[in-house]
Amino acid sequence: MGHLIAPSMLASDFGNLKSEVNMVNESQADWFHLDIMDGRFVPNISFGIPVVQAIKKYTKKPLDVHLMIKKPDNYINQFQEAGANILTVHYEACYHLHRTIQAIKNKNMKAGVAINPHTSVDVLHDILCEVDLVCIMSVNPGFGGQKFIKGTYDKVKRLSELKVKQKKDFLIEIDGGVSLENSQKLIQSGANVLVAGSSVFKAKNPSQMISNLKFMN
Ligand code: DX5
Ligand code: ZN
Repeated sequence: MGHLIAPSMLASDFGNLKSEVNMVNESQADWFHLDIMDGRFVPNISFGIPVVQAIKKYTKKPLDVHLMIKKPDNYINQFQEAGANILTVHYEACYHLHRTIQAIKNKNMKAGVAINPHTSVDVLHDILCEVDLVCIMSVNPGFGGQKFIKGTYDKVKRLSELKVKQKKDFLIEIDGGVSLENSQKLIQSGANVLVAGSSVFKAKNPSQMISNLKFMN
């Protein structure tokens, strides 16, 4: 399977959200990546459930919802009802991650777990058999447009090794500072999904940039 591209709508022009959604619809992108920030787990507030609903109305592509919030368990139903297809919670925000993952899957969504740059992939060892996706943050979560952290490559390689060892087929997603400069090396290291915000929406031709990220090999 080739890798997937998930443009992060955080970097889009919210004043023209419908046309931004249409651009992604007509592009080679596979998913929409939607960043939910609560100003508590991360030092920034983005957008919430009504925006997820609004985007859902105008697309058939899967919504990959990344919760950067405390107590994500309280909102699983609402995000499912809003149209999330993949729901990712942070390892650092969950006291009972196994329970949270089960709750997401019970709502018929794919379940993802994200880790901050300082968190080792090894802490996921005993939950990998339950998840559909692991999101390795390649910036500190909270803001778009940050610089890619180079230590990410080794984390991707390490997680790929664990994946082979455990014979699992979860997806490895990379989020933060992804661009044409690092995408090839990320895929070679074992990444399956690339989230791209600024590199897509600040490009002269966003749709072309999505194609470039998708077909770089
Ligand atoms: C960061 C978010 C990312 C962000 C990516 O907290 O989780 O999804 O929108 O944006 P870029 O690609 O600009 O780093
Ligand atoms: Zn994200």
